[in-house]
Order: sequence, then structure tokens, then C-alpha cells
Amino acid sequence: MAALLTATVVAGLGPILIYVWAPPPKGQRKSGLKVSLQGDLTSIPPKSVVQFNAPANSAFLMATGGGQNSPGDATFGGFLVNPGEGQQLEVFATRCPHLGCSVGFSPPDGIFKCPCHGSQFNIKGDVIHGPATAGLATLAWRRGSQPNEIVVDGLILGQGQ
Ligand code: FES
Repeated sequence: MAALLTATVVAGLGPILIYVWAPPPKGQRKSGLKVSLQGDLTSIPPKSVVQFNAPANSAFLMATGGGQNSPGDATFGGFLVNPGEGQQLEVFATRCPHLGCSVGFSPPDGIFKCPCHGSQFNIKGDVIHGPATAGLATLAWRRGSQPNEIVVDGLILGQGQ
């Protein structure tokens, strides 16, 4: 019985573990990507957003997904968000969960808008208007060694990509 249970667990978890721990394609490697922002992280006003791009020859890897986005998917831009009301800074991918266009932040409205089909997201990344049915994906990040630096989980692409 124990052997059967073990075999069932291994058969079920094996593909998942291989997916999660699979090495990146040849010529690519996972890395923390350093991003320098215009100002210090402590100077981002409440309910405001700082947009940033991945360094050359690299991409960020999504930590969460939803809609057309999945954990581990690549994206080339992010938003560092101060949601205000004493909440922690958050980092979102710019890629729309509907069909992958790049969303933008609209300061007058305080929301993210997708130019392709009109999806909208509040400053916490939640959908407030479709056709998207999922919120913005998050990126895994940490503060860097400089006051204006963050380090985002990503992928260094091979030369010439
Ligand atoms: Fe963003 Fe369709 S790709 S709403």
C-alpha cells in the first residue's frame, strides 16, 4: 500500500517538479536583475507608480499569473507601486493578462489602462474593467544595495537575443 501511495505521489508530482526546477533554455540563466530608479524608494508618493524596463538582453520573470500570464513567463517591463494607506510597495508586470499588450498607468485616474481592448486595473493590480478577467501579475523583487535600486527576478538572455 505504501509503495502504491509513493508511486502515485511521485507520478503526480514529478512533472510539476520538473516544470518548476527545469533549467532555462541553453544560453539563458536565471538571475536577480538590478534596476536603478530615478529616485529613492522611500520618495515614491502614496498612490503613485514608477515604471521601469528590464536591462538590455534580459527579461523579468513573473512570480504570479492569471489570464494569459503564468508564473515564470517573461516580461520586459514592470511597475513599482506605492499603493498608499501604509501598504507595502508592490511590483507588477506591465504585460496585460488579457492578450499581452503593455498596460500603462494613468496618473489622473490612478489606474492602469490597457490600450488594446480597454481593460483597467486599480493601483493594487485588480481588474476593474474587462475584458481581462485576472489582475496584473507580480514580479518577485527585493531592495538593492542603493537607495534607488531594486533587484527583480529575471532571466539573462543569450548573446544576440
Ligand atoms: Fe489588454 Fe486586451 S490585451 S485588454
